[in-house]
Amino acid sequence: MLIYSHATREEIRELDRLSVEEYQMPSILLMENAGREAARILAARKPAGPVNILCGPGNNGGDGFVIARHLYNQGFQIKVFYAGELKKIPALSDPGINLGILNKMDLTPIELLETKNLSDLLYSNQPEIFVDALLGTGLSGSVRQPIRAIIQEINQHSKDTVAIDIPSGLDANTGEILGIAIKAVQTITFALPKKGFLLGKGPEVTGEVIVVEISIPRNLLEKKCLLKQVP
Ligand SMILES: NC(=O)c1ccc[n+]([C@@H]2O[C@H](COP(=O)([O-])OP(=O)(O)OC[C@H]3O[C@@H](n4cnc5c(N)ncnc54)[C@H](OP(=O)(O)O)[C@@H]3O)[C@@H](O)[C@H]2O)c1
Repeated sequence: MLIYSHATREEIRELDRLSVEEYQMPSILLMENAGREAARILAARKPAGPVNILCGPGNNGGDGFVIARHLYNQGFQIKVFYAGELKKIPALSDPGINLGILNKMDLTPIELLETKNLSDLLYSNQPEIFVDALLGTGLSGSVRQPIRAIIQEINQHSKDTVAIDIPSGLDANTGEILGIAIKAVQTITFALPKKGFLLGKGPEVTGEVIVVEISIPRNLLEKKCLLKQVP
């Protein structure tokens, strides 16, 4: 059996860096694996109604774009939102490439730029599940607008929110809530669980934690003492 350690944000960043630089794994491949695995778990819930996917400005949002593509390809109803201006996403970044694919598929995300009318925008299609891909391990400081207002809205009205990698607003290292955090029923986290899931408010907001393998080389995890095999 493989035993995974809970990792800090810095350990996760180092694993990503070494996978890309030393093992020559394209970062977009890691994003694809992450998004595809998350989509597989979401699809297993067999949502009969729409899945609304909330994407943020970093790679966590890029994971959300991948999830949207896979769920749509599998026949699920989806709606994608982006907390910001799409034109600011660099076209050749990993999120930018995945956004380009969504655009070609006529699945261009709806921009959430302001905090007014959020409720109408988010709930008009009577979603069954919200997917939180707003902020991941790159969060720093107190959650800013418009993401703060989006989280508030989701926490008030959604009973089924699935967080991607980490509930947005939760500090990956300390489990502290940085102003506000998504309250998830399930957190699909990549490569390793995060230390903050066990600490502070972490246990209250993650819900069920599912760790998915995204192809970070196993011997790299073992070298960093983050994974061991027990008989
Ligand atoms: N590349 C990989 O190997 C890989 C593999 C699998 C998954 N991932 C995913 O990538 C995520 C990490 O990506 P990332 O480093 O780009 O970080 P991120 O968590 O996606 O977020 C970074 C973005 O969030 C914004 N932000 C930071 N603090 C904020 C705050 N307090 N309020 C509002 N916005 C804030 C930043 O905006 P500013 O620009 O304004 O600072 C930045 O654009 C992981 O959680 C995981 O989901 C990556």
